Amino acid sequence: MKPKILVTRAVFPEIIDLLVQHFEIESNQGDRIYTESELIAKLRGKIGVFTTPSERISAAVMAANRQLKAICNMAVGFNNIDLEAATRAGIMVTNTPEVLNQTTADFAWALMLAAARRVTESEHWLRAGQWQQWRFDTFLGADVHGATLGILGMGRIGQAIARRSLGFDMRVLYHNRSRLPAGQEAQANSATLVSKEELLRSADHLILVLPYSPQTHHAIGAAELALMKPGATLVNIARGGIVDDVALIAALRERRIAAAGLDVFENEPRFNPDFLTLPNVVLTPHIASASESTRRAMAYCAAENLIAALSSAQPPNLLNPEFRR
Ligand code: GLV
Repeated sequence: MKPKILVTRAVFPEIIDLLVQHFEIESNQGDRIYTESELIAKLRGKIGVFTTPSERISAAVMAANRQLKAICNMAVGFNNIDLEAATRAGIMVTNTPEVLNQTTADFAWALMLAAARRVTESEHWLRAGQWQQWRFDTFLGADVHGATLGILGMGRIGQAIARRSLGFDMRVLYHNRSRLPAGQEAQANSATLVSKEELLRSADHLILVLPYSPQTHHAIGAAELALMKPGATLVNIARGGIVDDVALIAALRERRIAAAGLDVFENEPRFNPDFLTLPNVVLTPHIASASESTRRAMAYCAAENLIAALSSAQPPNLLNPEFRR
């Protein structure tokens, strides 16, 4: 008999085809997000689960399913899974790093350019039929080329964002838990490590790429926004909760910073509706990694992790080193 697994959300059909070769699958191709109690019930008898950032795999879910051996998330971020509880319960957890670095870095640039150069704001105005004539001051924005790019969180995606700035003649500053090796700094357009305060004060365009955790909750709040330049743009492609959205809405409304580009929100998908009243924010629905080929690569990566975890092989992207084989 094949081991039983649950796939919690809709996924590419070929991933299901791959997984059925190894497992007996219950899959949620209907795609309604399970409540915690539904998830607990659906996991009964399953030893593996293919998850996405939309489900919270809490200690309670794991405690109710002690047979569970592997949780394989189709995302690089894994703040939806209680990793410590999983480790205590003997459950392997995996994510999908690397495969989305370039696509996500591209999208950070898309949001930065769109926010700084007011792309969506001016498009809405044009579509509303408001364009009567050319004017010298129509939608004046901020230059990206030649500006100072600030990156908060200089992991693989942060470095990919920095590398792209070479062609824009930008100066790159970053703040990170630790300094990158000199060779990596050089490749990241000679990025320079600075304090968080200096980063906030100096960046013309600040991109957030740090993982969400209790320590990074509201890493950007009213105090941090107050340090930023009045002409600055803020881009968040990391996770909701890193920014205090209420404080950001106030800063954007009062033009204490010029603009923002946001792909992630507190309580998404039910984000703060006040964002919709602001012209100076570009809003996208958590799609930074959503190119056709990257989402497929992420899904394969999660499936391969699950297949390895439930055989005797080493899952390529194991997050709890305690279970290394
Ligand atoms: C998407 O948000 C991811 O973490 O991969």
